[in-house]
Amino acid sequence: MEVEATNQEPLILVKLFSAPRSFTMASLEMTRRRATFALQLLLLLQLTGFSRTENIDAVEEIDRFCYPESARNSRRSCECSNVSASPWGMRALRIDCSYKDYRASELSQLLPLYIDTLDLSWNALDEAPIFTSDSLHHLNLMHNNISRLVAGNFKQLTSLRELYLGWNSIGQLEATTFEGLPHLQVLDLAHNNLHSLPGKLFAPMLVLGTLDVSWNRRFNETSLDLYSGLGINLKLNVLRLDACSLTEVHLPQDVPLKELSLRRNLLQQMPKQLPQTLVRLDISDNLLEHLLHEDTSNLTQVRQLYMEDMSLLQSIAANSLAPLELLETLSFQNSRRLTHLDAEAFGHVPRTAAGKKWALRSLSFRGTMLRTFNSTLAPLFGQLAELDLNGLPLQCDCELLWLKQLPVQTNGRCYKPARIRGMLVTSARADAFSCDSWPRWAYSLVVLTLIALSAAGIYLIVMGLRPHRGVTMRRKVGAGSPYARVTIEPNRQENPH
Ligand SMILES: *[C@@H]1O[C@H](CO)[C@@H](O)[C@H](O)[C@H]1NC(C)=O
Ligand SMILES: *[C@@H]1O[C@H](CO)[C@@H](O)[C@H](O)[C@H]1NC(C)=O
Ligand SMILES: *[C@@H]1O[C@H](CO)[C@@H](O)[C@H](O)[C@H]1NC(C)=O
Ligand SMILES: *[C@@H]1O[C@H](CO)[C@@H](O)[C@H](O)[C@H]1NC(C)=O
Ligand SMILES: *[C@@H]1O[C@H](CO)[C@@H](O)[C@H](O)[C@H]1NC(C)=O
Repeated sequence: MEVEATNQEPLILVKLFSAPRSFTMASLEMTRRRATFALQLLLLLQLTGFSRTENIDAVEEIDRFCYPESARNSRRSCECSNVSASPWGMRALRIDCSYKDYRASELSQLLPLYIDTLDLSWNALDEAPIFTSDSLHHLNLMHNNISRLVAGNFKQLTSLRELYLGWNSIGQLEATTFEGLPHLQVLDLAHNNLHSLPGKLFAPMLVLGTLDVSWNRRFNETSLDLYSGLGINLKLNVLRLDACSLTEVHLPQDVPLKELSLRRNLLQQMPKQLPQTLVRLDISDNLLEHLLHEDTSNLTQVRQLYMEDMSLLQSIAANSLAPLELLETLSFQNSRRLTHLDAEAFGHVPRTAAGKKWALRSLSFRGTMLRTFNSTLAPLFGQLAELDLNGLPLQCDCELLWLKQLPVQTNGRCYKPARIRGMLVTSARADAFSCDSWPRWAYSLVVLTLIALSAAGIYLIVMGLRPHRGVTMRRKVGAGSPYARVTIEPNRQENPH
């Protein structure tokens, strides 16, 4: 067997270097399979002599494929390496042809044996090559210039597990483009131009686990009933629909979807009917204005919820986060209009530690406009490992004093009162967190008024004590005055005549 394998012609990816093949694909494959099987047996039996022969063979084949004479020292030869070989001794070849400027016509469609991973990202492919291989697991065609996929484009890649087609301009697809991919688990079609997709397009992929169609701006023109309309595998785990111009989303409630990303769409409210199994939900950058109790009432399994960059979100209503009992991570980061967080947004938070145990570990309000937090939230905030209050215009008064005592560093800074503006809540003095209903200038005003009043009073008293201008101390001595000159007349009776 080993001898036979050594004699085979090299199988080369790039046509430039390809040699004529003397075996048909089928017989070659069988021979190979038998060889591998034999090798496994030999390895199991610890017959090291035979294994060494096989290893030498492997080295030669890889060398012939990866470093052909004609392309020695050329920038365009691909890089070949082994990927983690299984304990059975199965060879797995990884070929990296990224950044080589290849066009589809320069590539041989028959891939070398044992190839496991082929990376053709960042080339100049104008169409998706129709490769043939029964061992290829990962195919990466990202960052090319592919605009259409033909019928049965990948059907000769029977073992394909992961297919990356992101960052092309794929707009045209056939209903049977994905046929013959029964083992495909990951399909990435992000950053393309998908719209009006043919019905049941995804139906051939029976075990698809992850589907990414993000950043296809016209995806809203496609049938909105994704599962029944496009034939997505009902057992899908991860679905990404970011930036698809969606105004509504219809997903069945009884599918076991775990992760859903709806970032940057045009949703005005939380989609009705989301799968109840969701563990991670990202609905950031949509047009919701309020988060209400009914929005989350069916999301009881969610552990990570992202509502970031919500340009219109203003308030988080009472009990709107209460159904999320398993929630571990929650972020409202950069929702710049968010001004109201209800004291009971998380439901009734018991005051004592003996109450309910929360799963919540990480909470971010970074960059929102929240000014204060009701102290009823203290027990919940107190058990967080991470609380981000960076950039909030915090009103540091007696209502917020409890925030100082939290064990976690929040990076929250006081915005008011002005005398401690910009100081970290943790480093500002506790007595600055006062609830004076009067601002400081009002006190000064009162003092000034008092001074003015007392000055006026003193003036008045002084003026009051002074005699009136009309009243003079010295009076004119006149006839009526007691000080008037008295003329004493001689007693006429003493001189009688
Ligand atoms: C790949 O693995 C084979 C054995 O499985 C070994 O002989 C060969 O040297 C390895 N090649 C590289 C480039 O690691
Ligand atoms: C990509 O393909 C289009 C036609 O589909 C072509 O006009 C354009 O020049 C190509 N771009 C590059 C960089 O090859
Ligand atoms: C899809 O979204 C675009 C805006 O992004 C809009 O102009 C178009 O009317 C929408 N189409 C449908 C069918 O909703
Ligand atoms: C929650 O689920 C029930 C059925 O389990 C359904 O009737 C109801 O409409 C759902 N509510 C929301 C807001 O999705
Ligand atoms: C905090 O919440 C409780 C319960 O909802 C409420 O009674 C209280 O008035 C709130 N405190 C402030 C300062 O808003």
